Amino acid sequence: MPPQRRQTYQAAMPYAKEPLKSIYVGQRLFTSLVMCIWWALYYGLLPRSYRPRPSWTIKCCISVNFMRRIYRVTELAGVTWGTRNPDQECDNKSLKYTRFEWVDPLPEDLRTGIIADPQVPFRRVGCFVWPKERPKIIPTCVNGENGQIDSQDGLEDGGDIEATAGEVPLIGIFLHGGGYCHMSAHETSSTSKIPARLMKDKAFTEIHAVEYRLLQHAPFPAAVQDAAAVYAHIVRRHQRRSAKGSSSGRSSGKTATAPEEEDYEKPQFDAVIDYLSVDNESYREQAKNKRENAKIHARVSEASANLNCKIVLIGDSAGGNLVLALARWIRDEGVLPPPDGLLLLSPSCDPSHAFPETPSSYIPRPHADTDYLVDTPEPRALLQRTFLGHNPVETMHSPYVSPASGRVLTAFYGDAFAASVSDLTIAQLDDQQRQYLRTMSSVPATPVPTTPGGGNGIALVLGPPEATSEPDRSPTSLQRPIIASPRGLSLFTEFPKACVVLGDAERLEREVTKLVGAMERDGTEVHTIWVKDAPHDVLMMGWWDEKVRDAVWKQVEEWLAQV
Ligand SMILES: *[C@@H]1O[C@H](CO)[C@@H](O)[C@H](O)[C@H]1NC(C)=O
Ligand SMILES: *[C@@H]1O[C@H](CO)[C@@H](O)[C@H](O)[C@H]1NC(C)=O
Repeated sequence: MPPQRRQTYQAAMPYAKEPLKSIYVGQRLFTSLVMCIWWALYYGLLPRSYRPRPSWTIKCCISVNFMRRIYRVTELAGVTWGTRNPDQECDNKSLKYTRFEWVDPLPEDLRTGIIADPQVPFRRVGCFVWPKERPKIIPTCVNGENGQIDSQDGLEDGGDIEATAGEVPLIGIFLHGGGYCHMSAHETSSTSKIPARLMKDKAFTEIHAVEYRLLQHAPFPAAVQDAAAVYAHIVRRHQRRSAKGSSSGRSSGKTATAPEEEDYEKPQFDAVIDYLSVDNESYREQAKNKRENAKIHARVSEASANLNCKIVLIGDSAGGNLVLALARWIRDEGVLPPPDGLLLLSPSCDPSHAFPETPSSYIPRPHADTDYLVDTPEPRALLQRTFLGHNPVETMHSPYVSPASGRVLTAFYGDAFAASVSDLTIAQLDDQQRQYLRTMSSVPATPVPTTPGGGNGIALVLGPPEATSEPDRSPTSLQRPIIASPRGLSLFTEFPKACVVLGDAERLEREVTKLVGAMERDGTEVHTIWVKDAPHDVLMMGWWDEKVRDAVWKQVEEWLAQV
């Protein structure tokens, strides 16, 4: 790991330097173990109403309290755990349930949009692929050491793909959680309980757990690049021959002629008439967007029709954040067919909360007593700054990073929607926090552009709150928008259907609720599974009530069955 990157976020941490770090961590570990005995007695002797949630077993109480202490240690001391070097190969012989495969860097023709960052190189990506033996239905790939992913991928088995067309494999791409700084995709990682369970229950034909680059190794958008590389690899592996042959060969059914430029002439012609007859900017803009969208729809639905598999993106916690970013990139760029579903397990969707510049960071996240996640803004903000690296700090307010942050929601839907949930928690604040909020809210948090004609979704510039009293509407800020969707799309328009799992005792409850609200508002089909009395990311907790988790898995798998 490059030492300078570690130091970026550790320099300012009080306990991140030796020997203080070892002493601090050692002392906390020891006292935490002693505390376990105390908790066992306390919760065992007192009535259930004294537990954080009366339904919890003693084991649940201890595990949440213990994990919370350990999380605080890791945040203050900058300790990361369960990580792996993403450039290192893993010997297949050491793996019991998975095989290790390299996926080539994202092909150059797909390096578009936010992931095309000259300062972050594209890399080959390691994957732990479940199951260990490649199922017959999965085509092989010319994916040797120097092999490149190209349109010929998997074609040696092309005949097989056609032959088994009736049976469409369901492929999962799993992006593990851990706040972009812990854990790995290795089969023994604690987050790997998720793909392990899904494979055990035969919910997927194959799952690629992606060893994406954590913030210690590269800043944003490295993780999105890595996830995109694996997505593109799977799409190209399962693309039918005819997709690339375009005019030659068989058609995929619906449209016999390849939708080349002529197909777009008609809407373009309509738009030209609009251009001439209407002398109003927003209408012109809308017509242009419509034309662009139609073009992308035609391209993407052709690619989807030729895709001989279904793909579901799976992510827990920060992995859920990455799933949302990948799905957004796929939608925004329109160079690859969209996935068939998103499985979001306690997704982290407002990392901007950690920043003191964000007004909402002064409203504590709910459920401090019932979750193990800690809400320590300073160390979090340092981690987030490392995550952003060379990107401007405002990138934190990009929908690619914080899709459910107050600023993003306000920019797309106005103040009322963004405030609807946070209002509920204001009652819990002390006077000082309330005073602060009052001061903050007298300043518009985000300059909401008054785009006439309802073309919402384009906010302009984001500075620190003091600077926003006079919103910057200069054209330069539009050239590099932080909060913006292309082609007039709303925040979650054209997102694939999603299944969201969240606990009603978890600290991310508020932001995930907002995420679901925003997705539904934009017409995304969302199936929400509330887990009663559950903390964050309950499906990967080894110590949780097995019956509760079984019930959740059952619902998840029912949803998957109809993807
Ligand atoms: C592991 O096995 C798979 C196939 O079973 C193979 O494609 C892959 O290259 C192997 N990985 C390594 C690191 O040898
Ligand atoms: C722009 O033109 C459209 C279509 O003629 C109209 O519906 C809309 O009200 C106009 N907007 C403004 C601001 O003039």
